Amino acid sequence: MTKAKEKSSELYKKAQYKVPFGTVSITNKAQKLIDTAIESKWLTRGKYVQEFEEKFAKLFGVKEAVAVSSGTDADAIACAVLYDYGAKRGDEIIVPALTFVATGNAVLQAGFKPVFVDVKRDTLNIDADKIEAVITPRTRAIMPVHLMGKPADMDRIMAIAKSHNLYVIEDAAEAHGALYKGQKVGGIGHMGAFSLYAAHIITSIEGGMLTTNDPQMAEAMRSLRNHGIVNKFEFKRIGFSAKMNEIEAAVGLGNIEIFNDILNQRRENLLYLIAQFKKFEEYFYYIKEEPGEKIGPHAFSIIVKPNMPFTKDEFVAFMDQRGIDSRNLFYSLPTQCSSYEFLGHNLGDFPEAEYCSNNGTHIGIHQDLNEEHMDHVIRTVGEFIKKW
Ligand SMILES: Cc1ncc(COP(=O)(O)O)c(C=O)c1O
Repeated sequence: MTKAKEKSSELYKKAQYKVPFGTVSITNKAQKLIDTAIESKWLTRGKYVQEFEEKFAKLFGVKEAVAVSSGTDADAIACAVLYDYGAKRGDEIIVPALTFVATGNAVLQAGFKPVFVDVKRDTLNIDADKIEAVITPRTRAIMPVHLMGKPADMDRIMAIAKSHNLYVIEDAAEAHGALYKGQKVGGIGHMGAFSLYAAHIITSIEGGMLTTNDPQMAEAMRSLRNHGIVNKFEFKRIGFSAKMNEIEAAVGLGNIEIFNDILNQRRENLLYLIAQFKKFEEYFYYIKEEPGEKIGPHAFSIIVKPNMPFTKDEFVAFMDQRGIDSRNLFYSLPTQCSSYEFLGHNLGDFPEAEYCSNNGTHIGIHQDLNEEHMDHVIRTVGEFIKKW
């Protein structure tokens, strides 16, 4: 078989998954808006992008939302806003060691140095107890990531930031609609960054959204997404080319209309799996919802506990055979991603993040799945455990 054929048969196999990892909801409203945009021939940023921003801001309870072309751009632009607030190139931004590679990449793309902090195995989020030890005179911001849609420890993070005069940028890429003590994540820190990529709750296929309650920060975001422009054709900042187009905004507007339905279906799937996984507690750590929080479900994380007779790879292979698609539970960026070797960290420096990556996976719980699919997952995990 040629390489191209192998690849397409692999993709075909993935399309056959009983429990696929992600989905995109394209509504009738979105289809109508796309048609109108195409007929009008105005396809770059226009009225739909503006309407999408306004509706997004309202939905997330923030004053300002700025649409961009990806979640990575949202992260990078939020970092670059800090240059308006006294930051210098090469200054430091604190990020969790375990996250999707985009978080670290965005910090570097914006000209900052990512300083990593280990995570907690049970929450997958940055360990707030370890943040103060890495703060230096060059630290400018803390960037917690609400991984899997589970809110980070925002009270602690905001208090640390306040006492050291730092900004907080929430990477809420995976956490649309998550609540921390009643507040929507992405609107708690000084800036929030969302990914609108296909697997997320609100999607524009590709896309991202920045949020803030500070109109001056929003003005910097709007300039930075458009090459650093100010006024008509004057360029004041080192900007990005990170604009959203009308077709993407149309898909996003359709998703906003069904946001509650998507969120509720995902939460139903999540809470059902959490309840059912109790019987596998001896074997796995899995995402849990604590009092005072509501997860905005991205996916369901499963981590093999220490000293089990089976490995994560054996578990994942068994699930794959039974039609359950999965992804590795990311990597410890500084020690398990070769692109970060230049920072000079050593394996073992971030033991919790490394453990989660070596032993963890995550599976889809999106809106196209229901109790029947979740039952298939539970049956499969039960059958796997019986083998050992
Ligand atoms: C935690 C996190 N940050 C950033 C991103 C980047 O988003 P995008 O793929 O839209 O660039 C993702 C993507 O899923 C993510 O999971």
